[in-house]
Amino acid sequence: MDGSITGDIRALVEPDRVHRKCYTDPEIFALEMQNIHEKTWVFVGHESQVKNPGDYYTTLIGRQPMIMVRAKDGKVHVLYNRCPHRGAMLCPDRHGNTGQTFKCSYHAWRFNLDGSLLKVPVAEQYEGTRFDLNNKQFHMKPAERVESYRGFVFANLSHDGPDLKTHLSGALRAFDDMCDRAPEGEVEIVPNCFRMIQKSNWKIFLENQLDAVHPSIVHESSGRAALEVEKDIEKRTGKKAPLSYHYISAFTEPFFRWDTLNTMGFPNGHCTLEGYMGLRPKDPDTLEYEAAMHKHYGKERTEEILGVNLHHVLVYPCLSVQSPLQQLRAVRPLAADRTLTEIWHFRLKGAPEAIYRRSLDYYYLVNAPSTMINADDLDNFWRCHTGLSSEGGDWVSFHRNAGQDPNKDGVYTSVTGMSELPMRHMMKAWTDYMTAGGRR
Ligand code: FES
Ligand SMILES: [Fe+2]
Repeated sequence: MDGSITGDIRALVEPDRVHRKCYTDPEIFALEMQNIHEKTWVFVGHESQVKNPGDYYTTLIGRQPMIMVRAKDGKVHVLYNRCPHRGAMLCPDRHGNTGQTFKCSYHAWRFNLDGSLLKVPVAEQYEGTRFDLNNKQFHMKPAERVESYRGFVFANLSHDGPDLKTHLSGALRAFDDMCDRAPEGEVEIVPNCFRMIQKSNWKIFLENQLDAVHPSIVHESSGRAALEVEKDIEKRTGKKAPLSYHYISAFTEPFFRWDTLNTMGFPNGHCTLEGYMGLRPKDPDTLEYEAAMHKHYGKERTEEILGVNLHHVLVYPCLSVQSPLQQLRAVRPLAADRTLTEIWHFRLKGAPEAIYRRSLDYYYLVNAPSTMINADDLDNFWRCHTGLSSEGGDWVSFHRNAGQDPNKDGVYTSVTGMSELPMRHMMKAWTDYMTAGGRR
């Protein structure tokens, strides 16, 4: 290490291994918030969470408490959840409708829905002072930039760096794939989400999402139990078992099948996993759904849309998206060893109710906090974080297929489905963010 913070950071990340401090050190965590989460595009929410003027939803961007709100003109704003008078949090609730204005509970300053200051009590007592109703210093502070892609709202607390679409690059597919699967080309969020605090670093969660070796080990027992019942149903009835059994039995896929998957790494740390779990059964619900798709898109385009087999998209550093199942997990780091995830799901507009129910099954069987699948993952996250906090060794190994990832124009493709390319790729992006002074 050369004594500079940049030199220190570079010394922690090698092409095939990463120092444990990256996961456990509170100072590194503070720097991550400052240089990554508070300097790049972070998912705030979906436009359908705030349908009417005055509807708001509160969340975190890095360490900053923020409010997403719909203004009277229909525009969605993202504002710091802080009163410019004496700093009180304006919206302590997670969501609601604030009416025509935000009114601070402390001294009743009132703000328009775009954050501008409308009026203050006893205004005459400010005469002759430096207070000025029109001075932005006395308005709620907005995020530097807010952009939406197909209804998914992102905010960036920095004015530097590319626009949202340029930033997302290959990760745009997550939102295109999810929305294109709706006959009406749009999705709507399902209120509300599961919120879960993991006792582990946020990067451990992201790394697990595209780790194709772990499922047939960690989830084997759950997968086998589902497979047995699935086979039994099929033997007894002579028909395919409901798709929900397949959601879990798919975890019994042997290694060689996982190895046929395709992982890719895109600029800015985004990664994708393709080729897992075909979801084209031929039951009456699916046929009804496909008929609705044909009506809106025609046969050829429908086949193109439903032929996409994209299982996971990691939108670095904030999202894990499963577009064919209309769900995502938003990552909100709280401390080096504590991570909040919000688990959301969506309805395909124009699709039959049964198709929604089917994706809801996946939500409840795989992604919800109480499932056998998620619980097994959480246990490993906690074990990893605990081990990394010990003196038992300094390095995390990302050696699987290291040095073998072909790179064309900044896009990396794995040579095997089980390559640790996504982990290496994210840590490479991490180093770039951390050492660039956060300008992305
Ligand atoms: S702190 Fe908000 S009005 Fe005083
Ligand atoms: Fe898992």
